[in-house]
Amino acid sequence: MESPFEILGVDPDADDADIVDAYRDRVKEVHPDQGGSVHEFRMVQTAYERIEAGYQPGDPVPDPDPAAGPEPAADDEADEPAEEPAEPPEPDGLRVEYLDYEAIVDQGWSLDDPDLFEAAADADLDEATYGEFYAAEDQPLLEAAEDNDLHWPFACRGGACTNCAVAVVDGEMPSPASHVLPPELFDKGIRLSCISAPVSDDMQVVFNMKHLPEVGELLLPASRFEQARSSE
Ligand code: FES
Repeated sequence: MESPFEILGVDPDADDADIVDAYRDRVKEVHPDQGGSVHEFRMVQTAYERIEAGYQPGDPVPDPDPAAGPEPAADDEADEPAEEPAEPPEPDGLRVEYLDYEAIVDQGWSLDDPDLFEAAADADLDEATYGEFYAAEDQPLLEAAEDNDLHWPFACRGGACTNCAVAVVDGEMPSPASHVLPPELFDKGIRLSCISAPVSDDMQVVFNMKHLPEVGELLLPASRFEQARSSE
């Protein structure tokens, strides 16, 4: 029977931060919306709760199947119908719904269409093109996308090259003062995802905005930064 540490995939002497990171990673892996099952999801939740409650290696592991829920009272055992598993809670973080600008161009859609994301949701696009993920608070959007195995364009990671530009269609994503976007693009909702973090619970963003002509004019070629990185 797996111990709570084995279920989370962490060493028993991992510190609190590593345990929280492992829990978040496992929750994302086994979340029913991501192809996991309610059973797996509950196993991970229960493992984390046991560690938080002071579980130590060697302690007995009381219930291999947390999906079964608490034991019913002896009197009711035969009569009570099995409890429906509760809906799993929303994952932690800020929800980001994303869409590739190239899909907008290919489909002849408009960035200004208020139903743009509804159209994308109905269009059977692959996960690299359209989908959602959860970003941690204060986490730059580009980093959050990469944590979710998405490969969005970037080069400098410092607010200088505009390769990572996104358009915020819904939600708020403030930007630090050090960026190269002119006010007219900023006012249109263009942001640099390498240095900007979502602050709204629900965001809609279009990535790959480097293909928008006004953004393309500001692009510094990625090869410059690859050269700089290779000489680091
Ligand atoms: S990667 Fe260069 S501005 Fe973001």
